[in-house]
Amino acid sequence: MFGHKDGTANPRPGTADFDAAVWVRAATEPAWFRGGSYLVFRKIRMKTADWDMLPLAEQDQIIGRRRGDGAPLHGGHEFDAVDLEARADSGELVIARDAHVRLVHGIPMLRRGYNYDYGTLLSTATGSSEQVAPHSHPEGTDPNHTHGGHDKLDVGLLFAAYMNNPPEQFIRAQAALAASDRLNGLVQHTGSAFFAVPPGIAPGESIAAGLGL
Ligand code: HEM
Repeated sequence: MFGHKDGTANPRPGTADFDAAVWVRAATEPAWFRGGSYLVFRKIRMKTADWDMLPLAEQDQIIGRRRGDGAPLHGGHEFDAVDLEARADSGELVIARDAHVRLVHGIPMLRRGYNYDYGTLLSTATGSSEQVAPHSHPEGTDPNHTHGGHDKLDVGLLFAAYMNNPPEQFIRAQAALAASDRLNGLVQHTGSAFFAVPPGIAPGESIAAGLGL
């Protein structure tokens, strides 16, 4: 909903990185669950009206990648390695300290995002607010502008992430984001759920048979 490519840094199915991040293999997990995966789900409202008022360069700074092609801010192509140490001529870090991708770079998980769009919030709905979050505007914007009601849109991301070690993956990432992600003023987590997804089955078998249900 913010326009940046999503999923670039995901591990690719069939690779050792994918297997190490996604499939449950630990001997400490119950036998019926080995070969399955944990699924972390979050429903995240995105303040698109505020986001759309930001200049493109600021949007890119907040994410740490270019909206146009998904490349890291220091250049190259979408799938090139991210260089967190890259500096501009001024000496400033190219990917800011509070950029979204810096905070979670290298924490592996399989993210499968879906958009949702509920349209306009009713004034009584949870999450509805008369306040508009702090935001900046292009120079010359009328200080008395309104957002034409679009600040009440309830649209966003259905964040679904698969992993085998939630404390080391989702919780570590979410803690880092909660502490300083520049996206925080522009998103609002409104739902959360956590699932154990059993492994796939062969013909004649039944799902999670080891549970004895
Ligand atoms: C509405 C909320 C969010 C938006 C708009 C968003 C957007 C993005 C974008 C555009 C990227 C760069 C492209 C990519 O590698 O996929 C990214 C990367 C990533 N995001 Fe998010 N994200 C959101 C929430 C989250 C949450 C809640 C988590 C986990 C707690 C998360 C974890 C990650 C991770 C692990 C990466 C890959 C970082 C790397 O290794 O370079 N994101 N996100």
